[in-house]
Amino acid sequence: MSTDRTVADRGSALPSGLGRVYPMGSDLGPGGGLRIAGCDTRELVREFGTPAYVYAEDDLRARARATRDAFAARTDRFEVLYASKAFPATAALRIFAEEGLSVDCASGGELHLALNAGFDPERIYLHGNNKSEAELEQAVESGVGHVIVDSFDEIDRLDRVAAGSGQRIMMRVTPGIEPETHKAIRTGQEDSKFGIPMREVERALERIGRSGLELRGLHAHIGSQVFDLDVYESLADVLRQIGDYPLLNLGGGFAIAYTREDRPPPAEEYAEAMLAHAPEGVTVLCEPGRSLVGNAGISLYTVGTVKQIPGVRTYVAVDGGMADNIRPMLYGAVYEADVVDRFGDSTPCRIVGKHCESGDVLISEATLEDPRPGDIVAVPATGAYGHAMASNYNALPRPPVVFCRDGDARLVVRRETYDDLTRRDV
Ligand SMILES: Cc1ncc(COP(=O)(O)O)c(C=O)c1O
Repeated sequence: MSTDRTVADRGSALPSGLGRVYPMGSDLGPGGGLRIAGCDTRELVREFGTPAYVYAEDDLRARARATRDAFAARTDRFEVLYASKAFPATAALRIFAEEGLSVDCASGGELHLALNAGFDPERIYLHGNNKSEAELEQAVESGVGHVIVDSFDEIDRLDRVAAGSGQRIMMRVTPGIEPETHKAIRTGQEDSKFGIPMREVERALERIGRSGLELRGLHAHIGSQVFDLDVYESLADVLRQIGDYPLLNLGGGFAIAYTREDRPPPAEEYAEAMLAHAPEGVTVLCEPGRSLVGNAGISLYTVGTVKQIPGVRTYVAVDGGMADNIRPMLYGAVYEADVVDRFGDSTPCRIVGKHCESGDVLISEATLEDPRPGDIVAVPATGAYGHAMASNYNALPRPPVVFCRDGDARLVVRRETYDDLTRRDV
């Protein structure tokens, strides 16, 4: 579709601070409506309905380039992996493959999607704390460049499956470093289901030494939404004590702006921190997910009811909720929202979904400008782990994904239908 706006139409800037939260190039059109990459959100809703995930395609590319450029300006020895769990849509995977990124897959399903999207198997890194024999076979057979071994059992399993083929591996360790972030997205502490604890590293190296696997490097991912850059320096310090290997993967976790108050460090600062304590001659890998896709996407909803409880609060109910964005309920993620053609904050309210759970609260303390039934509400910064974690709770069909670019919108994932809900019945 092409919206009523041409690229030449002049829009006005979003209210202060929101430029950081909405996709690059978002603005208010001549009629005052929110536009994503030149597409009027009201037009998008007319064509694709709500709820819907809407992305600015160029923003995805720009973030991939900015991350690569940040490393390239400092070293030739680096590799940027897209952590595909954040948004494993084929269209996004294709974009990142085109932009020259490698990819982190955390399951056989994600591996299937990455191969299907055209990633060179050499550039695929297979993660996961409990890979099945079938997943390991799939990796070996499809020529995956590196498998990140996560446990002793897995070393045994992969050794059996790879049968002396010299499959290249990296070893994931839990370095005992805890960044300040929600405990559900903290992964570097010793008490973790992920990776080999530091105190077991020697025994793991010895086991790998007796295998037919080729250990190419070390890996650690200490958590997500990490603002504190020093932890990446400490991480490199810890890992370099283990030994010299060609590859050093310091994980993802680059923070993004979920609200206008958030000030995530730019990619340059993450690159600087990751490279600062890395040993000379080592190739440094990073694997961001949310920072490549989170702010490139928004969710659009339609308001159904506005319930005022005098002296208590105002509930604004939208036509989605925990099935299309579980993050607020899973780990208290905080978002902002706006009525797409009435920006402002006159009305404190709680934005809730339509699911049969009192906990179905998308934004606990929101402000909207005089919200009314029929309004279209945008929640920015939902580009990561929204679509990826979506479910069919209450038999809601999952939303479509729409990519916008230069005033044109294209559907890249269609909305589910009621027929899809019974498709797997036997
Ligand atoms: C091993 C690993 N790498 C990378 C990531 C990506 O994290 P983020 O999306 O915060 O960058 C994750 C997230 O769970 C992860 O577990």
